Amino acid sequence: MSDAAQHPRADHSLNVLRPPAEQRFAEELTRLAAEDRWARPAGWRLSPRMVEAFIMGDPRLGIRPKYVGDRALIQVAIATLASDRALLLIGEPGTGKSYLSEHLAAAICGTSQLTIQGTAGVTEDQIKYSWNYALLLAEGPSDRALVPSPLLIAMRTGRIARFEELTRCPSEVQDALISVLSEKAMAIPELERVELAQRGFNLIATANTRDRGVHEMSAALRRRFNFVELPVISDLQQEIEIVERRTRELMEDFDIQVDIPRETVEALVTIFQELRQGQTIDGSQKVKRPSTVMSTAEAISTLFTGCLLASYFGSGRVGGQELLRTLIGAVSQEDPSDLEALMDYIETVIKRRKGKVWSDLYRLKSQLKR
Ligand SMILES: Nc1ncnc2c1ncn2[C@@H]1O[C@H](COP(=O)(O)OP(=O)(O)OP(=O)(O)O)[C@@H](O)[C@H]1O
Ligand SMILES: [Mg+2]
Repeated sequence: MSDAAQHPRADHSLNVLRPPAEQRFAEELTRLAAEDRWARPAGWRLSPRMVEAFIMGDPRLGIRPKYVGDRALIQVAIATLASDRALLLIGEPGTGKSYLSEHLAAAICGTSQLTIQGTAGVTEDQIKYSWNYALLLAEGPSDRALVPSPLLIAMRTGRIARFEELTRCPSEVQDALISVLSEKAMAIPELERVELAQRGFNLIATANTRDRGVHEMSAALRRRFNFVELPVISDLQQEIEIVERRTRELMEDFDIQVDIPRETVEALVTIFQELRQGQTIDGSQKVKRPSTVMSTAEAISTLFTGCLLASYFGSGRVGGQELLRTLIGAVSQEDPSDLEALMDYIETVIKRRKGKVWSDLYRLKSQLKR
């Protein structure tokens, strides 16, 4: 397959900074629908097999992989969405929960936009419905005055709603979901009506295990979900693949061209894995762990910032110089003393490694002190 087919360019005619998955991959989704010979669950645009192909990639159909990881996990997630239970994606920060949720919703129902963002300030209105107060005062409660939440829109249209960071919401607000998920209905007492969910409706929630835990969800709500835990990637080659691919996609979005040597990505991901695990990959040496989560998402943004530096201020090639500068920010996000852990790592591990990126990192380490 040509490089262009592997990395189709974002459609710049849209002129948006980040098109949602259903727009970015509109062409892939159309192709999958045209090739689909399998049974579709009611209300779905694609069969579960084609949803899987969209997520995991299918070279035969020219579908590029999105999520990298265990196929069996993805099958459980897809099967859950075809059942009467909702899906809860849990895991450490930066393990691709939001990313997978967006792409699943796009493939199943054609939109990933029916999303509620969970925060400590979310109220029950934002989950169910609210009112256009001018109309409410003028006409009293009416369909026109009702402002449906993304969840209610998804119920009415038989599509997938997304709830990001569910566990950041207060528990009593989370519990507004119980009746929706068990009865597939939402009462609107002001209109003396109950709205019933159309076939195809379901919910994908995400929850971060570093925030308030899922155990703080009420047992009643937990029972309405199937949990799928997305693991932290521990395979070096797999993580390199993700970081490199996502960085190239970002470069396309931002229209920059930079040479990213394989050894640079390999060094970056190695550093992330070793700091994350507290030991070198071969297990021979212990390493001080910084308190920051050294997530895959963080590795992607570190490399991408390195690309920007190389493009705007450097030689057009990302190397040790760019990596070191961006690593400083990535490592010391939570606690400035984490820089010491990085310094320690440079002195004990990087010093002994062979290759240009490693020796550049070691040579430039004095920049860390500033
Ligand atoms: N296994 C993976 N496959 C593909 N991409 C991944 C994977 N893990 C992480 N990523 C990438 O990491 C980036 C961040 O992922 P995402 O925002 O979905 O993380 P998250 O789990 O929702 O994190 P948070 O808990 O902080 O919200 C995305 O660009 C995504 O592509
Ligand atoms: Mg997220």
